[in-house]
Amino acid sequence: MKTQLKRIGILTGGGDCPGLNAVIRSIAKPAMTEYGATVIGILDGFEGFVEGRMRELTPKDVAGIINVGGTILGTSNKGNPFMFPVETPKGIEILDYSSHAIHNYKDWKLDALIAIGGDGTMHIVDRFTELGLNMIGVPKTIDNDLAATDVTFGYHSAVAVATEALDRLQTTASAHHRVMVVEVMGRYAGWIALGAGIAGSADVILIPEIPFKWERVFEHVLLRSKRGNRFSIVCVAEGAKPAEGELVVKELDKKRTDPIRLGGIGELVGKKIEEETGLETRTVVLGHILRGGSPTAYDRILSTQYGYKALQLAAEGKFGYMVSLKGTEVTAVPVKEAILSLRTVPLDSQLIACARAVGTCLGD
Ligand code: F6P
Repeated sequence: MKTQLKRIGILTGGGDCPGLNAVIRSIAKPAMTEYGATVIGILDGFEGFVEGRMRELTPKDVAGIINVGGTILGTSNKGNPFMFPVETPKGIEILDYSSHAIHNYKDWKLDALIAIGGDGTMHIVDRFTELGLNMIGVPKTIDNDLAATDVTFGYHSAVAVATEALDRLQTTASAHHRVMVVEVMGRYAGWIALGAGIAGSADVILIPEIPFKWERVFEHVLLRSKRGNRFSIVCVAEGAKPAEGELVVKELDKKRTDPIRLGGIGELVGKKIEEETGLETRTVVLGHILRGGSPTAYDRILSTQYGYKALQLAAEGKFGYMVSLKGTEVTAVPVKEAILSLRTVPLDSQLIACARAVGTCLGD
């Protein structure tokens, strides 16, 4: 079935990442030129969808943005329409405001809505699809933790930034003969820590998939020191945890789609290493630096492919699907497949084997 693509909406949901604007551009430009469609930008993610904050995008809006980080539409990780946080005299109440969003979809006469986001966004895409909206998903996140695609855009850029940071930290660590602990984002998946740790030749990489033993970490940095390697780099995923210990949580916020904000394991690892080994240690948290700035060339290309494919799916009426990279092909998968589980690093992954092969300690 071919749809009449007259009015197409675009929304960016969840945490931002480099490449969002490149996707917006590759949907909007051909939508205007090939399909003669009107493109509506929904502002600030699902929050703006519920509140009816939208505007028509012009060719000028989407020109010159392929290399620009962030999102020209704004985003939010707090406005899940099915669990919408509302301030009431009794405090924050979580209410189902999906009917507001459906009303706005109809009011703006959208023929389709392309939502660019991570697993939270894909869950919402799935629910609205079941309620009859014409939705398509585009997989975004620096965490690379979405199932049903080989890679999400944004991941490559985050790894590039983290790798550069590791390179820089190595020279100062070496000059001062210190242990440098670097905490990176990634939620419950270790893709960023493992990717950047390998590329930046970290001596220890700690990821959520391999709960670590403190002793192994201490032994490894001490051994390096004894061998005359007078510095060590420890790359820690924010979701890493000791085998006998808990996740380190920075904040709980009921308004967020995922109420848990991770952070703090790096500080703990740094403190323990210094206490137990006597080696001078510093901790750096890269945090949102990984999400800022320009996308890498790889992410610009992938984002452009994803956006155009999403538009083609909309034109074909293939709703309830997410664009996906399988090998070198950009294809489409039912969004339900993308939300079955989080894609964490498999323990038998070649990446893990490579890291071990070059002498990296993974804390086990
Ligand atoms: O999902 C992307 C991500 O950057 C995670 O790696 C991190 O845990 C989280 O978002 C941080 O969220 P916020 O921007 O709300 O602090």
